[in-house]
Amino acid sequence: MHENTAIAHPNIAFIKYWGNRDNDLRLPSNGSISMSLGALETRTTVTLESNLTSDELVLDGSSQSGVALERVSTFLDIIRSASGKHKFAHIVSENSFPQSAGIASSASAFAALALAASRAFDLDLTERELSILARRGSGSAARSIPAGFAEWHMGSSSDDSFAEAIAPPDHWPLWDCIALVEDQPKKVGSTQGHQLAGTSPLQSARLQDATRRLDLCREAILKKDFAKLADVIELDSNMMHAVMLTSQPPLMYWSPLSIEIMRQVTIWRAGGLEAAYTLDAGPNVHIICTAEARQSVSDRLSEIQGVMDVIISPVGGGVFLTTR
Ligand code: DP6
Repeated sequence: MHENTAIAHPNIAFIKYWGNRDNDLRLPSNGSISMSLGALETRTTVTLESNLTSDELVLDGSSQSGVALERVSTFLDIIRSASGKHKFAHIVSENSFPQSAGIASSASAFAALALAASRAFDLDLTERELSILARRGSGSAARSIPAGFAEWHMGSSSDDSFAEAIAPPDHWPLWDCIALVEDQPKKVGSTQGHQLAGTSPLQSARLQDATRRLDLCREAILKKDFAKLADVIELDSNMMHAVMLTSQPPLMYWSPLSIEIMRQVTIWRAGGLEAAYTLDAGPNVHIICTAEARQSVSDRLSEIQGVMDVIISPVGGGVFLTTR
């Protein structure tokens, strides 16, 4: 029996991916930079069974059909065609964090699936090839293949649009304190959102300035310069949300509490606490902070009325195979 299990972590983007130049291939309109979240993981087992007549997906204990299964099956088609083996797969995937936590699980999901499924189909891919493959399932999954701090190069074609590590996990012990503001699934998912990015008149300005922000962010990470990192990640998050708010139809992911937390974080930083905010396509606020600031950040977040929970994570590793 061909059974393979892989574990991957989600990641939080410091410089965001928002908009594709090719939606089908998930070729992004700009490069992005992220940090792996070691405390959270997706564990996925892929088994090829000759008696199956279609792919099967069991996610957090419940059997999937419809859109979720179709997305996975379409992804497996890429692997089937690359391997020349036209077998169906039974996939079991578990997240260590609740789906309801509103933390994007598609990055860790497709990173773990890319490794487990490619091994099940006897493909021995390099890290770069795995990142390219994972990208086809979910763009941000490209960045959950390497360890630590990763940069996804927009590339000139599918073959050079991949993520690689810019610094290992132990380079800089940063933490992500995630303030859970809502536990409802988002109304407009990222895949749909990417397709609206181009309808905002602000997207072209955002893209034009992307190289500058990528350079600032990469440099801040390499030099461990928190003040510079804080400025660029907050600017980049605000620019992405400005595009979301001005697309047609407009996407408003922030809740009043998200805004309150952002305001608090800037006040805390002005008072000397090394913390900065960033938000993905949802209302939960990720507060990136130094190891010294972590306890204080999570204590202060817990005291804000309406914050449902605070999940904390250090910098994590890359995707890996495991024996169950
Ligand atoms: C706001 O990778 O979830 O989190 O490729 O359609 O799966 P798909 O989109 P996805 O988009 C992530 C958007 C973001 C920013 C980021 O992670 O860079």
